[in-house]
Amino acid sequence: MATAKRTEPALRPQTMAAMKAKGSKLVMITAYDYASARCVVATSVDLILVGDSLGMVVLGYPDTLKVTMGDMISHCAAVRRGAPDKYIIADMPYMSYHLDTCQAKANAARLIVDGAADAVKLEGGGDSRLEVIRAIVDCEIPVCAHLGLTPQSIHRFGGYKVQGKTPGDHTRLLSQALAIQEAGAFMLVVEGIPEQLGKEISASLHIPVIGIGAGRFTDGQVLVFHDLLGMTPQPAKFVQTYATIHDQSVSAIERYATEVRTGAFPSVRNIYYPIN
Ligand code: KIV
Repeated sequence: MATAKRTEPALRPQTMAAMKAKGSKLVMITAYDYASARCVVATSVDLILVGDSLGMVVLGYPDTLKVTMGDMISHCAAVRRGAPDKYIIADMPYMSYHLDTCQAKANAARLIVDGAADAVKLEGGGDSRLEVIRAIVDCEIPVCAHLGLTPQSIHRFGGYKVQGKTPGDHTRLLSQALAIQEAGAFMLVVEGIPEQLGKEISASLHIPVIGIGAGRFTDGQVLVFHDLLGMTPQPAKFVQTYATIHDQSVSAIERYATEVRTGAFPSVRNIYYPIN
């Protein structure tokens, strides 16, 4: 695979931690290809997540579980080609870090070397996951962890359900967040949890905590590109839609179809050496 060119990222984990300390919010968005990355680099968004949500929003799977290392590497490298100097975090797909720490280290390295990511993200905060985080960090690869409604656990959760609602789950997630920081992660994403828990986790950690469906008090927010732009049929409650790209695309494509049928397209300005 051709190496995707990257330049020095404008932001580093140290800068992100300093932003948290100053109270500046971090803005993250997902991207999955060259075109979406080019949109993001034209904005002031701080960092890009190449999420395994690509399985759902790009590849049309019902969940994230079928996404492969090959998918992640090829999409991440495309994002890097469109965003040479953005800090890019790549998701480690389901079962790419679950077997043992050797498998996890090798796959994390592939995302950095072949996918040209700056860091990797993985889900969960139990003991075996902490061991994996320590092992990857030990290979000099920055790790972002992900807690709460972790999509790779939907079968255990019985669906996309808000996590951390009971006092026991609240305490467990808070102590896992602290252990993740202790294990060396530079960032934590928290998803689908009550606002109070998002607030407590963010206040307890010195590493930045990025929320998605975790309320107003996290150190930053992340949204899925397609959700934000109005390309998802029924977005979750936590999504704010800022555009109507699906509807605009449908009407543009329909206008094209009509113009072909009526002969309005191609017009003289689209034709090489038109016949007078
Ligand atoms: O895969 C993804 O896009 C994610 C975000 C929703 C945090 O993990």
